[in-house]
Amino acid sequence: MKKRLSLKLLIWRQKSNTTDGNFKEYIMKGLSPDLSILEVLDQLNEKLIINGDRPINYDHDCREGICGSCGFLVNGLAHGPKSATTICQLYLRHFKDNDTLVLEPWRVKAFKVIQDLSVNRSSLDRLIASGGYVSCQTEEIPDANKYLISPSKAFTSFQSATCIGCGACIASCRNASANLFVAAKLAHLGQLPQGKDGRSNRAKLMNKQMREEGFGSCSNNLDCEAVCPKEISADWISWMNNDYL
Ligand code: FES
Repeated sequence: MKKRLSLKLLIWRQKSNTTDGNFKEYIMKGLSPDLSILEVLDQLNEKLIINGDRPINYDHDCREGICGSCGFLVNGLAHGPKSATTICQLYLRHFKDNDTLVLEPWRVKAFKVIQDLSVNRSSLDRLIASGGYVSCQTEEIPDANKYLISPSKAFTSFQSATCIGCGACIASCRNASANLFVAAKLAHLGQLPQGKDGRSNRAKLMNKQMREEGFGSCSNNLDCEAVCPKEISADWISWMNNDYL
């Protein structure tokens, strides 16, 4: 049988964005190393509810690393210490018995705390909306060879499209810059023939919205790239700046 773990959790508790928050300590014992951090929080919430306490609020949906809903800081690192991993895919086997885990929400001005570990990331939705839309005909199924796209372009476009919009890049940037997020969105559309129309205008509009939402500017520290669970390259920021200029 696998060795069970005990953890000390220091979790940020905050009722709303108009109240102050603080860290609260919870001890969890007899945990299977196969549990994810979210599953530990599920177990903790069951205990809190049974005791009549308010459960911990945190975002999640797919729990498979694809939706981008989950995300908070574990010991100061976005999505925790394991690279290329979302918080829902971070398992206790990556920690040691009696470890202390400090869980806190993304600390970004443009992401107001909703409650506890959950923040409002609707600024990212507005960023995407600011870029407008790409129109295409929806009549008959188009001929597969109508738009010729090289395999390398299809590959790099798909790579940038893997951004799940979790906000880890922004939460890890000392300037709270959204450049990697915006660059990924621009690059997956702008490399394909369907998205070529309005490509540089899209870059201008999204950059304007970035400033309006209060995101900072990029100073090339590359912390965004280091924490991206989808390993999106910061090279796309240069690509975006090229379009912008
Ligand atoms: S819950 Fe969907 S990526 Fe984590």
